[in-house]
Amino acid sequence: MQKQVTAAEAWTRKYPEQVVLAITKNEQDRINLMAIGWICTASDEPPMFIMGIDEHAYTLELLKKNQEFVIAYPSVNMAEETLYLGTTHGHAIDKGKECGLTFSAASKVNVPLLSDAVANFECRLVNIVRPGDCPLVIGEIVAAHVNTDKSLKRLYNLAQGYKLGGL
Ligand SMILES: Cc1cc2nc3c(=O)[nH]c(=O)nc-3n(C[C@H](O)[C@H](O)[C@H](O)COP(=O)(O)O)c2cc1C
Repeated sequence: MQKQVTAAEAWTRKYPEQVVLAITKNEQDRINLMAIGWICTASDEPPMFIMGIDEHAYTLELLKKNQEFVIAYPSVNMAEETLYLGTTHGHAIDKGKECGLTFSAASKVNVPLLSDAVANFECRLVNIVRPGDCPLVIGEIVAAHVNTDKSLKRLYNLAQGYKLGGL
């Protein structure tokens, strides 16, 4: 049997939800990372992502300026760091440094890969649309990388209130 509720109420049942990290950099080459749950594949050919980024996020400002970014799949070992990156704004804080994360060079974009991630996608900004209250960022994947350690598991958001863990 189904009971009619608000969308917000029904969305409490959506978990587990994937979580990714969007990596950007500012004009001083400082790397910034934010956690994103609202992301999905938007095209196979060319490969694209679409993601919802709040207008107050530093990441959105940096994406617009730099036009290039990296999407990384964090591993289960990065739960604590991902929670920090998803609950702190990077306008005045070097979040990457605070977390002690390690980066390596990308092949096509000017933003680095997250070395210990399960996978990294180098992206170029295609468009930003705003059909509702959240800016939707569309990026084309111009190069992709996977961790050679196949045993690494992806991190997920398991429940409301940011309960991060493995499946
Ligand atoms: C698991 C998780 C998922 C999140 N998903 C999103 C999302 O999809 N869109 C968004 O705008 N913020 C999301 N956030 C919140 C941002 O990561 C947070 O506002 C962050 O501090 C923005 O960082 P910035 O200002 O340095 O870009 C999420 C946070 C967590 C912990």
